Amino acid sequence: MNLETLAVHAGFEQDAATGAVMPPIYQVSTFAQRAPGEHLGYEYSRSDNPTRTPLQAAIAELEHAKHGLVFSSGLAAIDAVLNTLKAGDHIVACDDLYGGTARLFNQVAANRGLTFTLTPPLKAGEGLIAAMTPNTKLVWIESPTNPMLNVLDISAVAEAAHARGALLAVDNTFLSPALQNPISFGADIVMHSVTKYINGHSDVIMGALAVNDDALYERLKFLQNAMGAVPSPIDCFLVMRGIRTLALRIAQHDRNGRALSGYLAQHPKVEAVIYPGLVSHPGHALAVKQQRGFGGMLCFYLRGDLEAIRKFLSNLHLFKIAESLGGVESLIEHPAIMTHASVPEERRRQLGILDNFIRISCGIEHADDLIADLERALG
Ligand SMILES: Cc1ncc(COP(=O)(O)O)c(C=O)c1O
Repeated sequence: MNLETLAVHAGFEQDAATGAVMPPIYQVSTFAQRAPGEHLGYEYSRSDNPTRTPLQAAIAELEHAKHGLVFSSGLAAIDAVLNTLKAGDHIVACDDLYGGTARLFNQVAANRGLTFTLTPPLKAGEGLIAAMTPNTKLVWIESPTNPMLNVLDISAVAEAAHARGALLAVDNTFLSPALQNPISFGADIVMHSVTKYINGHSDVIMGALAVNDDALYERLKFLQNAMGAVPSPIDCFLVMRGIRTLALRIAQHDRNGRALSGYLAQHPKVEAVIYPGLVSHPGHALAVKQQRGFGGMLCFYLRGDLEAIRKFLSNLHLFKIAESLGGVESLIEHPAIMTHASVPEERRRQLGILDNFIRISCGIEHADDLIADLERALG
């Protein structure tokens, strides 16, 4: 089935009782039982809720996976994965990764006895492969990475992880299931900050996991209930509404990503542009192979000092200076001060997150208007 059709039908066709074409919002905490233990499939909304069920099914379908689960945030979804492990287990992750994920690894999960090696992934993931030990149980990657937009070879990393008895988890937030399905390349777990493209309207915080393995799903479902980081029914409804237009939104994000990266790449005030859609990007060929587009995330280095960067950002009208990404509105941010401030300065410098480094999340506005706004602020 084509994505445009899948996005409209995934997870829910109609309500059996009323014919409602969208899942009703079951804003309830508990469900009456006919007799103790005799219920209609729902007992308590932390365990399961009828608005959450179709959303989880939709996530699974979009990721070509057997099972989907949603959580109260992307980080809660990641934490559920970490809680499948036990003290002493080792996790290898790319060091170029959302700052909040690195903070969860190093400042929270490490206190529970998990050990982490965050390492430069290198071209086809050789860095990750070299860091694996007999104790490595999980490899965690983003592709493209946040914020440097490195493209990792998911098949190669999956193969190496499996050869050492580890699972591969891929944070697929930057592309959404519309542009990449890591399970097709051997990943065991796909994670999303649903907050971003899947919801797409900057009005919900949510996370999701998609897996094929039944036992892993049962464990994660147990943790979803046992840890209790579940989203509200109304948020599940909103995300389902967002999913219905996922294909259309992503097509426009992708068009804008290509247009803006091309424009910035030729601007004399721009030192360099990072966008996997540019043939000059080192991961371009790999992106063509494992992605169905390049998406709406791009980064660039502006010529000038921090004062000039601040002035440029404040002169923009259409781009909002804000953290997050994947919404209908274009956002621009300064990773060193904003999203990646929790990464130690020295490490930021090594990664290339410098004072003149800027990240854009292209919205779905017309590219000409966005370019005109950039042109004016750069001028
Ligand atoms: C790539 C990536 N993964 C995970 C997260 C965390 O998701 P959330 O903010 O929904 O907890 C983010 C948030 O920015 C992200 O960009």
